[in-house]
Amino acid sequence: MKESQPSAIYLKDYKVPPFLIDKTELTFELDEATTVVTSKLHMRRNPDSKENTAPLVLDGGEEVKLVAVAMDDYVLPSGEYQLVDNQLIITATADRFVLTCETLIEPQNNTRLEGLYRSSSMFCTQCEAEGFRHITYYLDRPDVMSVFTTRIIADAEKYPVMLSNGNEIARETLDDGKTSVVWHDPFPKPAYLFALVAGNLEVKNDTFVTQSQREVKLQIFTEAHNIDKVDYAMEALKRSMRWDEEVYGREYDLDIFMIVAVDDFNMGAMENKGLNIFNSSCLLASPETTTDDTYLRVEAIVAHEYFHNWSGNRVTCRDWFQLSLKEGFTVFRDQSFSADMHSDTVKRVEDVSFLKTAQFAEDAGPMAHPVRPASFIEISNFYTLTVYEKGAEIVRMIHTLLGAEKFRKGSDLYFERHDGQAVTCDDFVAAMQEASGVDLTQFKRWYSQAGTPQIRVVDEYDEQGQTYRLTLQQETPATPGQPTKLPLHIPVRVGLIDQSGNALSASFNGDSSDEHLLELTEAEQVFEFTQVATKPVPSLLRGFSAPVKLSYDYSSADLLLLLSADQDGFNRWNAGQQLAVNELNTLIEQAIAGEALSLTSNLVEGFKALLQNDNLDPAMVALILNLPSQAYLSELAQVIHPNAIKQARQYLKKQIAESLQTEFAQAYQQHQVTGPYQAEAKDIASRSLKNLALSYWLESGAETAKQSVVDQFESADNMTDQFAALSIAVHNGHDKADNLLDAFYQQWQNEPLVVNKWLMLSASREQEKAVDSMKTLMKHDAFDLKNPNKVRSLLGGFGQNISAFHHVDGSGYQFLADQILVLDKRNPQIASRLCTPLTRWKKMAPELRVKMKAELERIMADDLSKDVYEVISKSLA
Ligand code: BES
Ligand code: ZN
Repeated sequence: MKESQPSAIYLKDYKVPPFLIDKTELTFELDEATTVVTSKLHMRRNPDSKENTAPLVLDGGEEVKLVAVAMDDYVLPSGEYQLVDNQLIITATADRFVLTCETLIEPQNNTRLEGLYRSSSMFCTQCEAEGFRHITYYLDRPDVMSVFTTRIIADAEKYPVMLSNGNEIARETLDDGKTSVVWHDPFPKPAYLFALVAGNLEVKNDTFVTQSQREVKLQIFTEAHNIDKVDYAMEALKRSMRWDEEVYGREYDLDIFMIVAVDDFNMGAMENKGLNIFNSSCLLASPETTTDDTYLRVEAIVAHEYFHNWSGNRVTCRDWFQLSLKEGFTVFRDQSFSADMHSDTVKRVEDVSFLKTAQFAEDAGPMAHPVRPASFIEISNFYTLTVYEKGAEIVRMIHTLLGAEKFRKGSDLYFERHDGQAVTCDDFVAAMQEASGVDLTQFKRWYSQAGTPQIRVVDEYDEQGQTYRLTLQQETPATPGQPTKLPLHIPVRVGLIDQSGNALSASFNGDSSDEHLLELTEAEQVFEFTQVATKPVPSLLRGFSAPVKLSYDYSSADLLLLLSADQDGFNRWNAGQQLAVNELNTLIEQAIAGEALSLTSNLVEGFKALLQNDNLDPAMVALILNLPSQAYLSELAQVIHPNAIKQARQYLKKQIAESLQTEFAQAYQQHQVTGPYQAEAKDIASRSLKNLALSYWLESGAETAKQSVVDQFESADNMTDQFAALSIAVHNGHDKADNLLDAFYQQWQNEPLVVNKWLMLSASREQEKAVDSMKTLMKHDAFDLKNPNKVRSLLGGFGQNISAFHHVDGSGYQFLADQILVLDKRNPQIASRLCTPLTRWKKMAPELRVKMKAELERIMADDLSKDVYEVISKSLA
């Protein structure tokens, strides 16, 4: 352990910056080994700061070597500044001055992938959240916004393409075979949005004409061998630009918008002003190498980063506690965009399913935090599902409470009022409130209270009076640092259905309709409906109108009715899930008790009806028939018994497969897609149901299914079908699984993104000696510890492999802990993310819990980065 442990910083300590930087002029003399960075910062004291004699304190990184610092051309002797704790401190300053700094950095030794680093043969940057300080000394905080001019000097042959934010304003050839290019970005921005790229890159060009008829140049850059895979991203970009104009009235502002793909990247993509940088896994797409899921992900991420141009760049965050201001809002925007491009209901089911599995688990674990955290040790640890997905749900609830029209008024006011500013979540809510007249005072608690609220619903029907009463109780469980909670303002969309499945009209608050919006604000509240003709079945929390756990005592018959007839597509899926969860929970109990497993409900009949109903969207049928994941069942469990969960799922799947063998065989034939591959909702839906049917059909033991898996693997003309066949073979224990895995690697060994899928699948394979096989894979040519995508595929995949990771001998925990300790020395962000599966130790069955805790303690005893220290120490607390 280190002698002094890293300390936390607090939202309550926020102070405006004592200095401002009006202009930032940077010069990079690019060199792989040692790059010289010269900065000229045009600074002045901040008139809004009370600390008008405070010293100038600039942030830097351990690896930034200061060569010289001058103030208004006066070179400071070493006695006139201090370098302590990675900060450059200058005591005596004028009110207005130009600070010149010359620093040296080593891009090729930068393994953290923050700041300026190398990815294959190019230079690139990643500055969010606090990466700019690894380039030079700066006020590296988002409320310091500056106009950047960047000169890049590099070898013209190795680096013909040199890019930064804004517009290229000058270019000259220097005597020594080098080229100098100057970029200027007229929009003031915080340093986290700075970007630089240099490399030998190919480009795809296009244009977009904005709503005010300005022509914007669009460019996507990749290494030469990937340029044939950017067409889909380019189309997605144009769709995003149009959508933001139509739905939010937001037009693009610069004359050029560039995207660059890089192979080594800690995250998915980054919204640097005018120069987005993407992990190549989130940008490149071709039918042969990319699955449907990845196509949709590429589209969503292109949209997400583009949308940040307004929600994040033009209006940015005051401090990193406000991260959800840009991320939650932008996720809500990209979710709405994808819903509009494809199917609304399918998109909602996928997002909610992810939220309920992963964000709810985070909210119930040791790292639980509010959407606007009150403190952190390392900000990189707070790019979480809570900030992103729950943050998006908060914006969605505001949309629900205000309605589309007032919400738009609110977003217009927000963008107009705060253009060019660094603001807070409170500012966002204030704009929504003022533009709509809806009181959001209590609603704001959603930002400051962690934990998933639970709502209990009971009902009562009075036949004589034709009234129906719903009583809702809310309670939010304690989370670390927050023992007690206040009631939240929760929008609950409710519909009523009669016993034959028809919408049932009722009067509520003088409004007669078959759907109502209840606003739950008290700990307990009664909602009364009148003119209710018969006893209803309630369809509660339609569209998942709030991120809560809702319970109501439905009978199986009620759930079957909702599954087949609810007017709300989302709640049909939810009823199917609930039926499956109920059945699985019974099976899990049987397994824990060591009893023989047997089915207790009529789930199979419900599923049969779905398969036979030709009026349904095949994508929805596939989503409903897809059994709740082990991860979701673990989230729901009080105490997790991984083997019981696995046994229960396998048993149920087999029972369904055997009972509906004919139906699955038919569905497999019926939903084949003909014609060239298209990443369109209709075809994606067919493929998803067809491949789900194939998985059940194989599980039923049918010999013909075995052959169909092999045939599909060999003859598929797209990665969705080929990889589906392979996954099915691997997960269902097909006797040719090994052959197919080998064949797949042989076929795709020169396509790194496909190889990553192979790594992920290999790591998630359930087998007795899984850790041995992981150790072999780590030595395979396909693996590279330096590449975050490969680490995520292999080690991330292993963390999801419940039976291997939770092996009773503890070997899975030990293996992961070993890797975390190795990786932490290279890349703390990646190491920290790998810790997640270990942090859930308190919920595990006792024999596993102790082994997991021992590994956490072993990690804790090491000399750790801030990133890993924070996650592990909070997990053990
Ligand atoms: N601003 C983030 C990228 C980022 C995150 C940089 C954390 C540095 C630290 C970007 O807008 C983002 O949110 N990217 C997501 C994908 C998005 C679709 C949710 C990502 O990278 O996973
Ligand atoms: Zn984002």
